[in-house]
Amino acid sequence: MTRKPLQFQLNGSGKAIFVEEGQNLLEALRRGVGDLSPKYGCGQGTCGTCTVLIDGEPHLSCLTLAETVENCAIETTAGLAMGPQLHPLQQAFMDGFAAQCGYCTPGMLMAAKALLDRNPSPTREEVVEAISGNICRCTGYEPIIAAILAAAASGGGRRYA
Ligand code: FES
Ligand code: FES
Repeated sequence: MTRKPLQFQLNGSGKAIFVEEGQNLLEALRRGVGDLSPKYGCGQGTCGTCTVLIDGEPHLSCLTLAETVENCAIETTAGLAMGPQLHPLQQAFMDGFAAQCGYCTPGMLMAAKALLDRNPSPTREEVVEAISGNICRCTGYEPIIAAILAAAASGGGRRYA
């Protein structure tokens, strides 16, 4: 199988790996660079737990060819905290008990970050729309929606790092 060199930024750090032709970004992140924060759920684009940001936009990494992210900036939940300081979304999820099994949480956080980065004060309807591609099997969504709104409120309209 043909292997190709691939360079990209991952949470602000340069990465250079080889990927197999046809390999998806989720595998490249988990196996290629050891970032286990994006999760494998369905592998078919229906659950959202593999969501990462590519140049600021949410994408399903299980459906993204790794070779298409050459020179792109990738963000995952592994890069959200600043040392010991949690990202406001992570803190709000903890404070609001928005994660039960937690399996959907990485994808929810990245979908929510993409929303708050472009719209720091979303309405409830905008939050619901932003996470509509992310399935949670546990919480019934209400704590997740509340946590995202709480994070937005705590951010005071500033741009999230
Ligand atoms: S693992 Fe990618 S959408 Fe489910
Ligand atoms: S917390 Fe379990 S799937 Fe969402």
